[in-house]
Amino acid sequence: MTTKMLIAYGSWAESTKEIAVQMAETIKKEKNIEVEVISAKDVKELSSYQAVIIGSSIRAGMFHSSIARLLKKFRKELAGKPCAFFISCLTMKEDCQANRETTAAYTEKLYSKVPEFKPVELGLFGGAVNYDKLPFLFRKMFEKSEEMAEGDFRDWNKINQWTLDSSDKLLRQFS
Ligand SMILES: Cc1cc2nc3c(=O)[nH]c(=O)nc-3n(C[C@H](O)[C@H](O)[C@H](O)COP(=O)(O)O)c2cc1C
Repeated sequence: MTTKMLIAYGSWAESTKEIAVQMAETIKKEKNIEVEVISAKDVKELSSYQAVIIGSSIRAGMFHSSIARLLKKFRKELAGKPCAFFISCLTMKEDCQANRETTAAYTEKLYSKVPEFKPVELGLFGGAVNYDKLPFLFRKMFEKSEEMAEGDFRDWNKINQWTLDSSDKLLRQFS
């Protein structure tokens, strides 16, 4: 049987989707397994995947709504399936203990809704803000805000390393 992994993402403005795509490239190249990248809202089944990575960005303290929906819809299949979770957001613009704790705390509500979901790894990554991908009103609002200044804070080395370590762990759990 071919080993197949799913990377499901929740993303408003595509920077998290780009992380998911990069993760898939890394795993395909290094692990020689099949990897599919699918928007969380479009996932139809989980039974054909031996392991799953799920990731989302954050807006106003909330994950993309497709993530909770995915977890609830597939709660039975997720029980016992090797899983990892990652978050990309501006809180993680700077990787320090306080920001890691703040970001990790966002998972508490989500995990409590679906206790069957027990990710073995949690990736915490800086995100990106691209005004061209935001609605006009957001753009106007953020242009005046230092906190929401445009920039790309994704650390691709860190993302690649996490991807390799996590996929190793997921595949070990499966085999
Ligand atoms: C309207 C808006 C609200 C946001 N709210 C938060 C937030 O509450 N906490 C945070 O850490 N980042 C926040 N961010 C930053 C995003 O999580 C970050 O830019 C992320 O990389 C966007 O991913 P996406 O392009 O996949 O949507 C916000 C961004 C936008 C545009």
